[in-house]
Amino acid sequence: MTDTDELTLRPRADADLPRCIEALAGVQAADRYPVDWPADPAGRLTPHGMTDAWVVMAGADVVGHMALTPPGLALARAAGLPEWRLLAVARLFVGTRARRRGVAALLLDRAIGTAAARGQTPVLEVETAARAAIGLYERAGRRHVGTSTADGRLARMRTYVTPAPPMNSSDSAYS
Ligand SMILES: CC(C)(COP(=O)(O)OP(=O)(O)OC[C@H]1O[C@@H](n2cnc3c(N)ncnc32)[C@H](O)[C@@H]1OP(=O)(O)O)[C@@H](O)C(=O)NCCC(=O)NCCS
Repeated sequence: MTDTDELTLRPRADADLPRCIEALAGVQAADRYPVDWPADPAGRLTPHGMTDAWVVMAGADVVGHMALTPPGLALARAAGLPEWRLLAVARLFVGTRARRRGVAALLLDRAIGTAAARGQTPVLEVETAARAAIGLYERAGRRHVGTSTADGRLARMRTYVTPAPPMNSSDSAYS
């Protein structure tokens, strides 16, 4: 990849997985994201219930990746919205050589568009130590709705939602 390569956002194809795993390996080495290298990296990039996955390409290289999944009850509770109103952003990472070029912003814009088309709003969870991700989410005006300790993990997690259109009174949040 070079600095002048055009960035292209597109749905992930199965054939992209080896290059996604290669990009993830660089991110894991630099950022410990994920903390431990997964036994099944392709499975890690294809979380349970995944509805979509997107990549950003620079030339032939995968430089960014994002999966979209149902949020699950715990994340919906942390966000204070019903599960059906939410679309979770997962497995978001950008290759170390492509940072600060707006790659993650492109992916998050796609998450917003995809969620909006389904009447949903994106929700994201990030470890409190992930300063870049926190900077990314807070710059874009996402709302920090809570901090929790994930089940069985020592890490503390911050939960963000993209400001949503007004809800009907029937769309009650969890109490
Ligand atoms: C977090 C991450 C996805 C950001 O990717 P990126 O493509 O470099 O982000 P963008 O270029 O779209 O940045 C958009 C904005 O986010 C904020 N931001 C991004 N990286 C930042 C950093 N290191 N420190 C502070 N703010 C940062 C800035 O406001 C930036 O705008 P600016 O460059 O105009 O100042 C990337 O650093 C990464 O992959 N980190 C490791 C994996 C990870 O933490 N994933 C998220 C798990 S929840």
